[in-house]
Amino acid sequence: MATKFVILSLMFLLALATSTEASKYQFQNLKETNMMFYMQDWETGANATATPVASIPHKRWWILGFGTIFATDDKLTVAIERNSSEVGRAHGIYVNSILDGSNLHLLMSLVFTNKEYNGSTLELQGTDRLYQKYRNTTKNRWEVSVVSGTGIFRLASGFATLETVYLDIPNSNAIIRWNVTVFHY
Ligand SMILES: *[C@@H]1O[C@H](CO)[C@@H](O)[C@H](O)[C@H]1NC(C)=O
Ligand SMILES: *[C@@H]1O[C@H](CO)[C@@H](O)[C@H](O)[C@H]1NC(C)=O
Ligand SMILES: *[C@@H]1O[C@H](CO)[C@@H](O)[C@H](O)[C@H]1NC(C)=O
Ligand SMILES: *[C@@H]1O[C@H](CO)[C@@H](O)[C@H](O)[C@H]1NC(C)=O
Repeated sequence: MATKFVILSLMFLLALATSTEASKYQFQNLKETNMMFYMQDWETGANATATPVASIPHKRWWILGFGTIFATDDKLTVAIERNSSEVGRAHGIYVNSILDGSNLHLLMSLVFTNKEYNGSTLELQGTDRLYQKYRNTTKNRWEVSVVSGTGIFRLASGFATLETVYLDIPNSNAIIRWNVTVFHY
């Protein structure tokens, strides 16, 4: 009985060691891609691409209101100017998800339309401290995680740092610079 147990344990450990080796090997074969672009998050004025779609009844639906959910089709551009070339669109939602109103939760597909990544996508999910200039964790700042991807970004995982380069809270308009690093096949 004891011998059987020892053999089974050894087999289990061996299987564990093999799978760790395999994942290490696969990780080393991943490609790393780094990219930067600007997200044009305009909720008011002509050609707005983000809009509140739901919130707590009888409360103001706005960017700093806990519970407010926005739908987006934001343009991702190569430069800070709103009319600069498009690299893709940010289709998704974000929701104000902290009681004091200072935090958003992002759930977005970045759908690329530029020549280089046309048709490929990245999935973004994470918390976004909208009051910090750099919304990432480097030096106590915040990052948003890239949880997957398609096309040339199949099985992507990585992270994005978000930097607010323009913010107009009363009109709920913003331009965010994204710096994305992903590992993928
Ligand atoms: C809105 O879109 C139209 C048509 O593409 C364009 O002519 C106009 O300049 C845009 N306005 C803003 C504020 O982006
Ligand atoms: C963008 O708009 C600015 C100011 O309206 C204009 O000077 C510039 O030529 C435009 N750029 C493009 C690429 O359309
Ligand atoms: C991206 O792919 C679509 C669909 O295949 C095509 O119509 C479009 O011209 C492509 N865009 C670029 C910039 O290559
Ligand atoms: C973008 O992110 C990468 C990876 O963290 C970093 O090495 C690089 O310095 C960043 N670039 C800018 C302009 O912040």
